Amino acid sequence: MKMNPWTLSVLLLLAGPLGADPGWHVEYPDSFCVVEGSTATIPCSFTHPAGQRVERVVWCPNHEICHLTTPNVYDSSNVRADSRFQYLGDLVRNCTLKIIKTVKQDAATYHFRFETNGDKYTGKKGVGVTVTDGEDVKVRSSVTDNVVKEGGQVTLTCTSACSFHRLDVHWYRNRQALSETGRALHLSCLTNDDAGDYTCSLDSSGRKTSAPWSLLVGEDEGRHKCDSDRSVTVSVVSVLLAVILLLLAGLVFAKRNRRHAQKKASEVIQKHEVDRKQEAVGASEEVSYATVRFKSNSSRSAPGPEHEIVYSEVVR
Ligand SMILES: *[C@@H]1O[C@H](CO)[C@@H](O)[C@H](O)[C@H]1NC(C)=O
Repeated sequence: MKMNPWTLSVLLLLAGPLGADPGWHVEYPDSFCVVEGSTATIPCSFTHPAGQRVERVVWCPNHEICHLTTPNVYDSSNVRADSRFQYLGDLVRNCTLKIIKTVKQDAATYHFRFETNGDKYTGKKGVGVTVTDGEDVKVRSSVTDNVVKEGGQVTLTCTSACSFHRLDVHWYRNRQALSETGRALHLSCLTNDDAGDYTCSLDSSGRKTSAPWSLLVGEDEGRHKCDSDRSVTVSVVSVLLAVILLLLAGLVFAKRNRRHAQKKASEVIQKHEVDRKQEAVGASEEVSYATVRFKSNSSRSAPGPEHEIVYSEVVR
């Protein structure tokens, strides 16, 4: 079987985790920080020896074993529909837990337990979930000064005591929502329109919102600097493209020329042979043609044709 290296490496990658017997294990972060009122998704995965079927999964706070009588926040054998704790995982290897509208009391160390048709296992470490209030949400900027020159750039980052990279971050300028989401807001080619008060928020309702960060855009003597930078880039790119195209055309042309020359040469040789044969047969008529010549007339006032065409005679 023929296999390209890419296929081979993918197969090797797959063979790694599938080939080894994984044993009993739960993998989740040691700690997880949530801003009060926001939604947290705690990543989790688990493995068990091959050939066993998972029958029950449980998440419970502050208990190392998390057995049947321990209070829990999620139990697959007794699901509470109104719970703020939702199980996003499955009964195969994913045990992701979602906490909706986190409250202060949710702060705890959570353990994941799963029971198979053969045995039971609880992830020992647990995830230490801390809940902070949203007051510490801040806008941090890449510049020390609030004044940025026209055409300049600035990156704003939404920060809080938590690492909340799994949350949606919403951005506002003068309380108007911006289309950008994500922890970092990158502003470049600044104009006066970009000036204003920037805030970020950790939920779409805008409750956990940072204090405003004011951006002032200063006039720059070299105006439209950013635009000209852009056009310089564009023209450099187009010149490069043109050069590449020319080189390609040149290559194609040279190749075709060479082929043409070879063809010509072989034709000439053939013709030569034919001529020699004819000569041998005795076709004695020898014809030579002179070139056609155009002679430019210097005096424009002179009547008659402007160009005198001189045909030479066919000489025998
Ligand atoms: C586990 O499930 C969650 C929610 O469906 C998903 O976002 C995550 O990517 C899954 N993790 C793995 C390792 O499959």
